[in-house]
Amino acid sequence: MSVISNEVLLKSHETYHSPDRIINNAKISSENYLKLYKKSISDPEEFWGDIAEKELFWFKKFDSVLEWNYPNYKWFEGGKINICYNCLDRHIKNGKRNKVAYIYTNENSQEIKITYGELFESVSRFANGLKSLGIKKGDRVTINMAQTIEQVIAVLACARIGAIHSVVFGGFAPHALKLRIEDAQSKLVITSTWTQRRGKKIMIKSIVDEAVDSLGYNVDIIVAQRDGDNLELIENEYDFHKLMSGSSPECEAEWMDSEDPLFILYTSGTTGKPKGILHTSAGYNLFTHFTSKTVFDLQDDDIYWCTADIGWITGHSYLVYGPLSNGATSLIVEGAPDYPNPARWWSIIEKYRVNILYTAPTAIRLFMKYGIEYPAKHDLKSLRILGTVGEPINPEAWIWYYENIGNKNCAVVDTWWQTETGGHMIATLPAVSQKPGKAGLPFFGIEPKIVDKEGNDVPVNTVGLLVVKSTWPSALRTCWGEPERYNKYWKEINGYYFAGDLATIDEDGYIMILGRSDDVLNVSGHRIGTAEVESALITHHYVAEAAVIGKPHEIKGESIKAFVVLKDNAVIDKHLVNDIKFRVRRELGSIGVPDEIEFVDKLHKTRSGKIMRRVYKAKELGMDVGDLSTIED
Ligand code: PRX
Repeated sequence: MSVISNEVLLKSHETYHSPDRIINNAKISSENYLKLYKKSISDPEEFWGDIAEKELFWFKKFDSVLEWNYPNYKWFEGGKINICYNCLDRHIKNGKRNKVAYIYTNENSQEIKITYGELFESVSRFANGLKSLGIKKGDRVTINMAQTIEQVIAVLACARIGAIHSVVFGGFAPHALKLRIEDAQSKLVITSTWTQRRGKKIMIKSIVDEAVDSLGYNVDIIVAQRDGDNLELIENEYDFHKLMSGSSPECEAEWMDSEDPLFILYTSGTTGKPKGILHTSAGYNLFTHFTSKTVFDLQDDDIYWCTADIGWITGHSYLVYGPLSNGATSLIVEGAPDYPNPARWWSIIEKYRVNILYTAPTAIRLFMKYGIEYPAKHDLKSLRILGTVGEPINPEAWIWYYENIGNKNCAVVDTWWQTETGGHMIATLPAVSQKPGKAGLPFFGIEPKIVDKEGNDVPVNTVGLLVVKSTWPSALRTCWGEPERYNKYWKEINGYYFAGDLATIDEDGYIMILGRSDDVLNVSGHRIGTAEVESALITHHYVAEAAVIGKPHEIKGESIKAFVVLKDNAVIDKHLVNDIKFRVRRELGSIGVPDEIEFVDKLHKTRSGKIMRRVYKAKELGMDVGDLSTIED
């Protein structure tokens, strides 16, 4: 495998020591990290067992910590737990009833605060409302909502009664939503009338209507009407707030087995069909709790802001469950990062005295482009920890973040993980030295390796495949209805967990993630399969075949380019290009729309008929096309 360029290596070799104020006060010091890490690897059962007992509330304590039955595992068997109880009831019993759980704000600077006590009551009422519609433990509920406190209530209410939530990002098109509702066989869809983006209302309920219209069965719909909306609801449709206010505020949390399913979250793989990643109750609760606490070094009076949408795993783990389980106060912000002006985020940080910011490199690069004059006008001194997630952060963006947002007085914590991993896997803790552009050192209990296709370790600073040696508490348990797809994660390479990313490891053990090794794209931190985009493209009546690749993009990380073979009767003009893009938007959603479309006569394929995307990519980037022995033409 190839050696990465010297230029990148040089920049990411520099070591940044965290400021003293962080080193001196962090929950876990550098020395303790090393000590605890060693213990977590040599005796994971004792390590996780101790933390599980100390940090979480159990209705009944577990009998065993880990049962490995490769490629399956069970964590905390015999235990009875409820994550909603750990996120709400536990804090109320510990005197945090009046602590603010969320501060919601939007593009109009509207503000809504909700305390732990109020959230507890709303969730309990809504959970009873769900029960009144016949929803019970194990039923699936699809949530497709605006980024609001109501969405958090919907998620937690499902967890409270043991219903399995499947949150679908609000930006997906009706067809994509329908696929996800159908695959999970959800009985109920919870939605909002609209969401806000760049001063406009984007109607969500109508997307749900369209998705549900083409379903082969009936579902109930709960609609959160917003700001005086008075949408007339038809049969099988229920008003979110009326359902909530009309239900009792007493709702016992369901005693869940540790391994009872908590949620399904669909993510993109290498085929056109998304995979429903399944997470279960106890291990996920523990891991998101403990990573939130230590990676963000959460202190009691911190104001924490994760900018991710609840529709993605980052929103699940680090906007909902992790911070709530720690009793934190979080911001939840709806709308675009740079609307109504490029200083929006910085004014939010100043206004709410945010201490921890967790965002994606694509946002950092967007703000870099706007220039330092915007953050410079705001007082950002409250910040202490700057997190990043979702895609590789280039050293330039890391340093810009550190210098201009963190004023060289914060720890920048890059966190590598996935929908499948549930929580942070590689994340250099705040008190430990960082290297710009490198995700860095593994979290407790995680033993990453960089290997070749046969599973042999590659030398330092050499590109290889990122794998993880053993299981961890919040590892995916299966792919919903597709166990063979699950097995592939553990069987692709030598019994390791196969992440699908390319990476290097340096002489100090710091890992640098270089991007995906498979046909999965990462556009603005959003994961999307080339095959998904290709499937959407060929639904256009003039498109015969399509091949899709990702190209490096200054802000988005990757942009989408499609090579399209047209049917004979097609006429190429500007309208056709727009029409094809429109088709993809309708089919998949705006995140899948190609930036570029090139028409070609035929596609490069292998003799067995597989599209050779790597040939297109190499040509596009002016690189060597590599071995062409299997190419058909
Ligand atoms: O390629 C890696 C990239 O995002 C992929 C996982 O995407 P998803 O399941 O949507 O979860 C994103 C949020 C956790 C990974 O396979 N990725 C995630 N975090 C990083 C990253 N790449 C580099 N550095 C990161 N910190």
